[in-house]
Amino acid sequence: MSSILETKGLTKSFGAITAAANINVTINEKEIVGVIGSNGAGKTTFINMVTGYLKPTGGSILFRGRDITGFSPRQVTRTGICRSFQVAQLFPELTTLENMLVAHAMLSKKRLGMQAPMKSQTNIDTAMAALSGYEIESYADAPVATLPQGIRKLLDIAMAMASGPDLLLLDEPTSGVAIEEKFGLMDTVMEAVKRSGAASLFVEHDMEIVSRYATRVIAFYDGHIIADGPTEEALNNPEVREYIVGSELHLQKPEDDQNAEN
Ligand SMILES: Nc1ncnc2c1ncn2[C@@H]1O[C@H](COP(=O)(O)OP(=O)(O)O)[C@@H](O)[C@H]1O
Ligand SMILES: [Mg+2]
Repeated sequence: MSSILETKGLTKSFGAITAAANINVTINEKEIVGVIGSNGAGKTTFINMVTGYLKPTGGSILFRGRDITGFSPRQVTRTGICRSFQVAQLFPELTTLENMLVAHAMLSKKRLGMQAPMKSQTNIDTAMAALSGYEIESYADAPVATLPQGIRKLLDIAMAMASGPDLLLLDEPTSGVAIEEKFGLMDTVMEAVKRSGAASLFVEHDMEIVSRYATRVIAFYDGHIIADGPTEEALNNPEVREYIVGSELHLQKPEDDQNAEN
């Protein structure tokens, strides 16, 4: 496996608070990584640094061996890293289709230095195909303000994927989504990610979702990484169990059955 993203000693301080301290992470091509950690652990700070929304206080970020530390969000996107936000960043007054058209128009503007004609049939066909990749084409004409939360999340991710990134960073993709819809949403997103060949890193609080979709887990605690490894191994790490997972974890492991609390 070859690595695409590497952070070395990545650190961010806000005054006296060190939100992320000495973060050393390597993400490999096509890897699906779950990021866990309680609120305030530094997960979003890490994503914000990698995507150019926050300037690191120290350390460096390499993408495919190139130093991208200090790049603006737009420059980071161009190099092949895209993201979604905890709260979807959409144009609420526009329809689902129009939002996707804007995402594509912004791309062609970046690539060609000019604004593509937005509502040509070709653009509409491309945007509709992108929506159907996330199973949200039936919402094409609905204004975003009227969409259920799960559909908004899918649209936000579909728009982030429009540029065909090599790495997709998802900050709590299932937050605010009803529990019974979370697996469906993740199925759709992960199938699309795998089809595209991108690697993905997703922040998630639900350990069942982490177990189902991540092959590797990185655990943040108080600005530090306390575990990084294959999913089951990381989730069973004593510190991770004590500080993060607590009693919520019920992995389907035979030896766990004897110790099951309920
Ligand atoms: N812009 C900011 N200014 C000051 N402190 C911040 C800022 N952003 C985050 N922090 C602090 O950094 C720490 C990590 O926050 P964050 O990365 O958002 O955590 P998480 O995403 O894991 O919940 C928290 O203590 C938070 O209060
Ligand atoms: Mg966060």
